[in-house]
Amino acid sequence: MLDTYKTFAADCFAGRTVLITGAASGMGLETARAFASKGAEVVMADRDETGLDRYGGELRESGAKVHTVAVDVSNPESIDAMFSYCDANLRHLDNLVTCAAIITAKRIFEQDWAHWQRVHGVNLLGTFFTVQGAAKRMVENSSGGNIVCVASDAGVHGGGGLIADTAYAASKAGTLSIVKSVARELAGRKVRINALNPGPTDSPMHSHIEQSLKDRIAGNLPMRRMGRPDDMAASILFLCSDAASFVYGAALDTDGGSMFR
Ligand SMILES: NC(=O)c1ccc[n+]([C@@H]2O[C@H](COP(=O)([O-])OP(=O)(O)OC[C@H]3O[C@@H](n4cnc5c(N)ncnc54)[C@H](O)[C@@H]3O)[C@@H](O)[C@H]2O)c1
Repeated sequence: MLDTYKTFAADCFAGRTVLITGAASGMGLETARAFASKGAEVVMADRDETGLDRYGGELRESGAKVHTVAVDVSNPESIDAMFSYCDANLRHLDNLVTCAAIITAKRIFEQDWAHWQRVHGVNLLGTFFTVQGAAKRMVENSSGGNIVCVASDAGVHGGGGLIADTAYAASKAGTLSIVKSVARELAGRKVRINALNPGPTDSPMHSHIEQSLKDRIAGNLPMRRMGRPDDMAASILFLCSDAASFVYGAALDTDGGSMFR
């Protein structure tokens, strides 16, 4: 296990459950590993069933309590089925992390209606209806719950079409608005909701980008490196932990300083 998490006690999520969407790759997968290493019971959800089998199996072999559920978050029936699985298999749902998303990089005149529907179906509607399903269960749970939605620095800066386009950036700005809006509406209901704004992170989402462009991106960041999935998982652990018990409706920039420029 990576040193990144040594700040957190080994049992700090013992007895707690977490549902993670987009858990078969990148930050979602690393977040599943991080929660499992701290004693949580983890539900890994993704549309990539091969990845779920492989990485869920690896975690189970290491002794972690891990479930895997196939879901397409752009399909409301599939989201309902994911929550039915949680209802049937977990005592209650304590934490939700929404990582599932697609990135697109089309120039303005290449983006048609179908493109926006596809991106927003996954990134925006998928996030909202996953949050809705979890929040419904958490408000009925006497111990409440924590929600972290992974947005993006592109939701604040915008996307110019080179690595992220307008449709993607707008979906992430919308994700930030979902977090603020739900935080307002659930005030006083024992459910904390926050956003994470990752900066450019070296994950499979960017596997198509050439190394020379990654080097340029890294060179432009104040920290002079791209983020890693474990940087993001550590921030998510923090937001779900008791150490963040007074952090509410916030967006944590874990971005190597990209917002700072
Ligand atoms: N990598 C970056 O530089 C970066 C920067 C800012 C924000 N983010 C955000 O971080 C989150 C995680 O990104 P990542 O870099 O780990 O990406 P990734 O591509 O490695 O992982 C995304 C996962 O989401 C899953 N997914 C996609 N569509 C889905 C759907 N319809 N239903 C269910 N699962 C679906 C994929 O199968 C994949 O496993 C995303 O929300 C992304 O937008 C990434």
